[in-house]
Amino acid sequence: MKPTIFVTRLLAQPAMDRLAEVFEMTVNPEDRVLTKQELLDGVKGKDALLCLLTDTIDKEVVQANLDLKVISNHAVGYNNVDVAAAREAGIPVCITPGVLTETSADCAFGLILATARRMAEGDRLTRAGEFHGWGPLMMLGGDVYGKTLGIVGMGRIGQAVARRATGFDMKILYTARSSKPDLIGEQVELKELLEESDFVSLHCPLSPETRHLIGKEELAVMKKTAYLINTARGPVVDEQALVEALRNEQIAGAGLDVYEEEPALAPGLAELDNTVLLPHIASATIETRTEMAMLAANNAIAVIEGRQPAAMVT
Ligand code: GLV
Repeated sequence: MKPTIFVTRLLAQPAMDRLAEVFEMTVNPEDRVLTKQELLDGVKGKDALLCLLTDTIDKEVVQANLDLKVISNHAVGYNNVDVAAAREAGIPVCITPGVLTETSADCAFGLILATARRMAEGDRLTRAGEFHGWGPLMMLGGDVYGKTLGIVGMGRIGQAVARRATGFDMKILYTARSSKPDLIGEQVELKELLEESDFVSLHCPLSPETRHLIGKEELAVMKKTAYLINTARGPVVDEQALVEALRNEQIAGAGLDVYEEEPALAPGLAELDNTVLLPHIASATIETRTEMAMLAANNAIAVIEGRQPAAMVT
């Protein structure tokens, strides 16, 4: 008899095919996030769970099936999983680092350019028939080339953004939890980074320590001409404080791919023109989503077959 797996959403087909070679599969047939009850029912009696960042795998879900052998999360971030509860239950949690690094960094850099150069706003204006010809003072943005980029969280994705920024001759400042002396740029404290940077780009994981890392006080320290870019996790930023700062022109703009109460936006955010708002698509390329799904599938298979998975949360 094959082992069983619960897959919470349809994934890239090569990964579905790979999973089917090993598992008896139960798959959410609908293209939507499952409810808590559906998750609780779904994991019952299964050997493996393949879940997404939109699934909250809390203590109750973990404890709904203590015979579960693996929780394989189709994401590098694992703030959606109660890892302590899984550890207590002896269930390994696997993630998908590495395969989405460059794709996510491309998106973060795209947001830097799009926000500073008002690309989404310009697109809206043009489509609305309001482009009445070139103007010397029309839609002036901020330069990217040669400016200072502050990277908050110098992990894989932060470093990939730094590599891109060298091509734009940017000065790079970064924060990291530990001393990381050999990287591109200069390691500084958060306050100094916020004071000095023209662009602040967030790349730290979401944890109790980083929740609202950027709030009213931090936004007040940033330059009036600076931009905030968030492709990490929404709750790293106090979104309502960000709306206020943008409204009051305390900072020049923001490029966001993630939101505090995703998919809802903070009241007022969507009305602000000095923002570029993406629907959490930083890793959304055909190549990368296929690699993420394959890695998530292979992680689950490795655990079930008694091998070491490529990426497990320690
Ligand atoms: C995407 O947001 C991820 O964590 O993989």
